[in-house]
Amino acid sequence: MTSRVLLTGAAGFIGSQLADRLLELGSSVVGVDNFARGTRENLGPACAHPAFELLEIDLAKPESVDVVRAALAGRRVDVIWHMAANSDIPAGVADSDVDLKDTFLTTHYSLKIAKELGIKRFVFASSSAVYGDHKSALHEDSAPLFPISNYGAMKLASEGAISAALEAFLDRVHIFRFPNVVGGRATHGVIYDLIHKLLRDRSSLEVLGDGSQEKPYLHVSDLIDAMIFAEADAQDRLNYFNVAASDGDATTVRYIAERVIARVSPETPIRYTGGSRGWTGDVPKFSYSTSKLRDRGWKPKLGSTSAVDRAVDEIARELVG
Ligand SMILES: NC(=O)c1ccc[n+]([C@@H]2O[C@H](COP(=O)([O-])OP(=O)(O)OC[C@H]3O[C@@H](n4cnc5c(N)ncnc54)[C@H](O)[C@@H]3O)[C@@H](O)[C@H]2O)c1
Repeated sequence: MTSRVLLTGAAGFIGSQLADRLLELGSSVVGVDNFARGTRENLGPACAHPAFELLEIDLAKPESVDVVRAALAGRRVDVIWHMAANSDIPAGVADSDVDLKDTFLTTHYSLKIAKELGIKRFVFASSSAVYGDHKSALHEDSAPLFPISNYGAMKLASEGAISAALEAFLDRVHIFRFPNVVGGRATHGVIYDLIHKLLRDRSSLEVLGDGSQEKPYLHVSDLIDAMIFAEADAQDRLNYFNVAASDGDATTVRYIAERVIARVSPETPIRYTGGSRGWTGDVPKFSYSTSKLRDRGWKPKLGSTSAVDRAVDEIARELVG
């Protein structure tokens, strides 16, 4: 189904690939980004498409609502895909303003834009970080929700604001709780960070933690398939899903580090900093229950480790050649 879409975070890793896919499907897309982390290169293909338009705005500021209203000048928008956020969890632990602004206020003002422009559908990029540190597999109704990072806290607060907006003025909401998403055009993440470290210094590769951290990884192409599939197949007013390859499918940081070394710098030794957590706010191990989305008929193409393998090649090709 084609739509007129307002896409926040359009220049980012996931947002830019989502823009390409929505355009391919025949939607028109107004992308919003302040280029805090996203890049103009990521938007190269979208900008060449006649149905794409870019608004360079800081969505954490109240004036963004007026700027979007003026830019759209009475044109109808069907749905907001809200992908903008701070994607650097340690930066938000160091300074909680970062997630307040880029993760929560961007949601707050995106909702205000929806309200003022009469946009009735809202899709949100949430995160496994809303669950906090649980020992058992996470399903969508796992509780209690006590995040251990400001990033997770502001994603959870955003989910709350979106559910309140559904009561007040939206017709339909989709909340997708992403796992670790990997693939080309990455702007951050473990594979991206490890390759950048190697480009700076090949004498040894520092890996945070002891390498035993183990999480589900999903290729960005599968994530986008899942979201588009679920959004087109809405069965409820409030739809919320974990997205991952399959139940319990996960990959260790040790595997990822070894794979990066093999691809980029086979002679370099790995040096683990030790401890089970990579950094404050890191949930070192988690496992997702994925049956809610699978029962609707969605199937990923790649498992967690195949997604990592493919992403290492894609990111290394972009950064190293
Ligand atoms: N990549 C993952 O593994 C992952 C996991 C869970 C959730 N998510 C969520 O998915 C979404 C996309 O993540 P990503 O990996 O593409 O990250 P990203 O950093 O590449 O993309 C986020 C984009 O938002 C933009 N942005 C940030 N603050 C803004 C502001 N104030 N105004 C306008 N634009 C702003 C950035 O410039 C960037 O282009 C985010 O909401 C993120 O929290 C990602």
